[in-house]
Amino acid sequence: MQFAMYGVTSIKQMSYFNKSTGFYCMPEEGVQLTPNAKILTDEEVIRLATLFVRAGVTKIRLTGGEPTVRKGILEIVRDLNSLRPLGLNSIAMTSNGLALHRRLPQLIENGLTHLNLSLDTLDPFKFEFITKRRGHDAVMKALNVALASSELQSVKLNVVVVKGLNDSEVLDFVEMTRNDPVSVRFIEFMPFTGNKWDKAKMVPSSSLLGHITARYPDVIRISDEINDTARSWKVPGYRGTFGFISSMSDHFCSSCNRLRITADGQIKVCLFDAKEVSLRDEMRRGAGDSELLRIIGQAVSGKAEKHVHMEDIDVPMLLSALELMFSILGP
Ligand code: GTP
Ligand code: 5AD
Repeated sequence: MQFAMYGVTSIKQMSYFNKSTGFYCMPEEGVQLTPNAKILTDEEVIRLATLFVRAGVTKIRLTGGEPTVRKGILEIVRDLNSLRPLGLNSIAMTSNGLALHRRLPQLIENGLTHLNLSLDTLDPFKFEFITKRRGHDAVMKALNVALASSELQSVKLNVVVVKGLNDSEVLDFVEMTRNDPVSVRFIEFMPFTGNKWDKAKMVPSSSLLGHITARYPDVIRISDEINDTARSWKVPGYRGTFGFISSMSDHFCSSCNRLRITADGQIKVCLFDAKEVSLRDEMRRGAGDSELLRIIGQAVSGKAEKHVHMEDIDVPMLLSALELMFSILGP
């Protein structure tokens, strides 16, 4: 895969954002790392995963923080892979790609099936500005390793679009789908605590689509799976696709089937939900599997009432409709 350098922006041009460094996904002052003792151990991660898979979950996504910097990541993926006979069929990861390219072949060998990479710019200078790190090259290497793999079932790029920062690159990202079987997903910038969200920085998917169709008038809408976060499109003849995650302008709560476990073992039924129950504390005080399942069932039935529309609070039935997002490193 090859890239041209796309109009490197000067620091001065970016002054609008200078006061909001770290605006993107975490507060400017950074976040407090969760102390090790509070984080689920590898054994606890696998114990919970096994419980969920036995109860019907078929897709587990490892997220973070950044999952690739967790010490036991290779072993966790290997152990998840051993849950396949119980029904797990998708072992996915969302990564910033910075520490990935060397580990990716082993992760794939150990059972990783789907990879989502966060990459907001094709410009190394902007990359450093956004992430506060050098490493655009490393992410591109990881992307190339992923695209060269015949075992990965999907490779997606998550692009959070921020007005004045990377919205000028949207057509370049679409152009990436010409030769590579990559799914580029443009994500509406969402407010998280302390991330300096501002409505004026949010670019609605509808305006991006307008911009893209002006350049590619014959784009085709692709049918989505019911629980997809993105609405996808394709330029005819191109190998990849592009899509929109419109969490702000067209939230998809009614079809959301995600269930989250935080790095310290709390269960969250919604990304924005503050109500959490600590499965870690229950495990550490000696709760058995059936007790854990009862607690999980209680949390999940709250989600079901809102989203999954099931009347019967049958835990395995509820769980089999859900995907598990496992944050294995803080915050
Ligand atoms: P796929 O299974 O490949 O579709 O991944 P995903 O989109 O579920 O997960 P990923 O970690 O790649 O997240 C990408 C973006 O999707 C995030 O930045 C969010 O914008 C959005 N997203 C994921 N899960 C949720 C959720 O539970 N609620 C909301 N509102 N948005 C979510
Ligand atoms: N708005 C939308 N998406 C975000 N992400 C991180 N912060 C935000 C935000 N404020 C995305 C990243 C990553 C995914 C897990 O969440 O791009 O790919």
